[in-house]
Amino acid sequence: MAEVILEACNLVYRFPGNTDATLRGLNLKIAAGERLALLGANGAGKTTLLLHLNGTLRPQTGSVLLDGQPVGHDRNSLAEWRRQVGVVLQESDDQLFAATVAEDVSFGPLNLGLSESETRQRVTETLGALQIASLANRPPHLLSHGQRKRAAIAGILAMRPRILILDEPTAGLDHQGKIHLLAILSHLSDTGTTIVFSTHDVDFAYAWADTAALFADGQVLEQGPITTIMTRTSLLQAANLAPPMVLVLQDTLRHNGIAIPTNPPARTLEALAGIMTDKLFQMG
Ligand SMILES: Nc1ncnc2c1ncn2[C@@H]1O[C@H](COP(=O)(O)OP(=O)(O)OP(=O)(O)O)[C@@H](O)[C@H]1O
Ligand SMILES: [Mg+2]
Repeated sequence: MAEVILEACNLVYRFPGNTDATLRGLNLKIAAGERLALLGANGAGKTTLLLHLNGTLRPQTGSVLLDGQPVGHDRNSLAEWRRQVGVVLQESDDQLFAATVAEDVSFGPLNLGLSESETRQRVTETLGALQIASLANRPPHLLSHGQRKRAAIAGILAMRPRILILDEPTAGLDHQGKIHLLAILSHLSDTGTTIVFSTHDVDFAYAWADTAALFADGQVLEQGPITTIMTRTSLLQAANLAPPMVLVLQDTLRHNGIAIPTNPPARTLEALAGIMTDKLFQMG
């Protein structure tokens, strides 16, 4: 396994006023360069965990380790932590606050101490990469949901984090929006960024992630290769999730005597359709 660069150790967190803890001794390891999906049903504690991974929330018990060292919550530690770990929030409105998209995206680089001209360059590059250069001077609150999502991602990417964490990144995006987001994430991943995202969309996670952590009741039930995790039907059930459609379909075919080669496994319905077509041609 690659080196663990960010780690949640035995996190316990109870929101003020709640009787039950939301995180109950949660452990998670994030290795350099991985594409990790955090899978869990609504209310499982995904967002609460992510807010611990950049220091927004502070655990009552346990700690977060960055490169093996516990990170502090003083001003300087938090600034350095957030330079390395960027979290794109589930609700873009919680993230966008400046008068225009360009000003919003400038905020991070200026805070990192970049000059005005370096910041302008970063903003231009980042808006270009996200294909929202035309929105630069628009007020964020007047944008569509998908446009706000891209603007929020741009604000984090402009800081060039080493670990990019996204909370439900595909929620509310249309088909093209999802494909575009995946292309951006793939490029970042291929160029060395570690990517973590939360989702309950098992099909999306299976198509793109290398590894997965399964959440239920404020704990990680299991973490490992996504191809393994997605075949653990009883664990998926315990986490209130169903297996990806492509695996359900393959099981149905197998029960009816049609074996689909699983090495490498088909990770999308499109890939499965391709394998089936080849098989039909072979059968003549
Ligand atoms: N600010 C808060 N105050 C009190 N309770 C909260 C707060 N935020 C979350 N909770 C509770 O903590 C639990 C986990 O919530 P969390 O938002 O982390 O879940 P999630 O896995 O991100 O869900 P979703 O898929 O709906 O985004 C829920 O029971 C929720 O009601
Ligand atoms: Mg959430």
